[in-house]
Amino acid sequence: MILDDGYTALKKCDCLETRKSKKLIEKSGLKNLIQEYTFEKFIAQETWQRVIKEKALAFVQDTDSHWFFIGGQVGAGKTHICTAIVNELMKQGEEALYMLWRDEIMKLKANVMEGNEYFQAMEAFKTKPVLYIDDLFKSERGKHPTTSDINIAFEILNARYNNPELTTILSSEKILKEILGIDEAIGSRIFQRVGSYMLELNKNPKMNMRLRERKQQYE
Ligand SMILES: Nc1ncnc2c1ncn2[C@@H]1O[C@H](COP(=O)(O)OP(=O)(O)O)[C@@H](O)[C@H]1O
Ligand SMILES: [Mg+2]
Repeated sequence: MILDDGYTALKKCDCLETRKSKKLIEKSGLKNLIQEYTFEKFIAQETWQRVIKEKALAFVQDTDSHWFFIGGQVGAGKTHICTAIVNELMKQGEEALYMLWRDEIMKLKANVMEGNEYFQAMEAFKTKPVLYIDDLFKSERGKHPTTSDINIAFEILNARYNNPELTTILSSEKILKEILGIDEAIGSRIFQRVGSYMLELNKNPKMNMRLRERKQQYE
């Protein structure tokens, strides 16, 4: 470090910033998705894709709004766009956590957690500055969420609802009406907090980008 003037000596070096953001990515659980699921790589060819991208970009700029919801059609880019949002928030220095619903709920319910591991895991989901819940209420073979699934979702989302500083990003194969049907207390809290940042994709296999990619391989 050059110490010839006070300013240089006090300036934070870029490598420190890069290290910090690398650490944030590692701790978030999104390390494997973050390279591919960016805004730059989100193709907005069709109108519905443009709407998604514009909403997501507006959300990361909007410091007054802290909840984002995208529900519906499988393979339509929900995880992709939410990961891009979380990445941007981490670039702004926010600490984030990725919760793949089906996996984490299984761990929480399996009673395999020792000591206060369950409490610690729940505490992280309830208090991390940014939480991304991917595939909320997805269960094996499309089964209806159990009472304990609903109780855990309520405990996490209600804690975050009660702390307006926390950012909560949600994606689900269910649209809000279906979530309201599962549990009105959860659905109505989501509805209230997301405001205009709610995107619902009609269930239409034409919007499944996974099927499109495969189709192109054979064309
Ligand atoms: N608009 C898009 N531009 C580029 N790739 C996309 C787009 N939408 C989806 N994909 C790709 O299609 C695949 C499925 O998207 P994903 O976000 O996992 O869907 P979902 O979470 O809605 O099921 C991923 O590989 C994703 O990167
Ligand atoms: Mg997904």
